[in-house]
Amino acid sequence: MRVDFEPDDNVVFPKEYTPEESPDDFDPGLPNQLLDFVLRSEASKVVDTDIFSVMSKRRSTRKFQQKPVETKKIDKIIAAADTAPTAGNFQGFEIFYIKSPEKKKLLVPACNKQPYVDAPVVLVFCKNPSRVKFDFPEDILKKFAIQDATLAAGYSQLAAQALGLSSIWIGMFDEQKVMEIIGTDLVPSSILCIGYPLQTKFPKPRRNLQELVHVSW
Ligand SMILES: Cc1cc2nc3c(=O)[nH]c(=O)nc-3n(C[C@H](O)[C@H](O)[C@H](O)COP(=O)(O)O)c2cc1C
Repeated sequence: MRVDFEPDDNVVFPKEYTPEESPDDFDPGLPNQLLDFVLRSEASKVVDTDIFSVMSKRRSTRKFQQKPVETKKIDKIIAAADTAPTAGNFQGFEIFYIKSPEKKKLLVPACNKQPYVDAPVVLVFCKNPSRVKFDFPEDILKKFAIQDATLAAGYSQLAAQALGLSSIWIGMFDEQKVMEIIGTDLVPSSILCIGYPLQTKFPKPRRNLQELVHVSW
């Protein structure tokens, strides 16, 4: 069995991922100092700061430009995931930021041959129920972890949209194959593929509220 995480208290950043900028007085001991800094930093001129406008414009994209995504934007997308609520604040999820072009290519067949999985930015969100330290049955912890991972990915998806990017949420994949490729024992919940869209499309239609909302007195 592979060991997924051996956190070292003296190490702040994962191997090969450091946010582009950190505060001058950066103190890893100060909770959320870096997170707040990344979230507030000026990432780009195309940032849409109106959350409702971001929501109303988001549309899944499966064709991306080759243009790489700026590290500052990736920092914000990851930071956004870190702001999501989690059960008991135990943060029962992990993000695998796939930088290897070879691994991205391997993910395509693992995701039902969906070619757009080989996108400029690929984030695999995994459930980590072992972080959820409630004294509840295992199935509850697993349920919390899937909700944690899903919410976090949703926050990242909206952040990507706010940054002028587009994304596609991938739920159709072979869990075992993805775990093998990214090298983890943690089960993935979704894969978020992000980049600059080739075309900007209108949002897809939704049901009317009569079908969606069920009022219960
Ligand atoms: C749980 C879930 C699983 C999804 N899986 C896939 C997938 O494997 N491949 C894909 O191309 N799109 C996938 N999508 C994207 C949906 O097709 C897309 O969100 C939906 O058509 C609505 O379009 P919109 O995102 O533009 O509003 C998935 C979305 C969700 C929420």
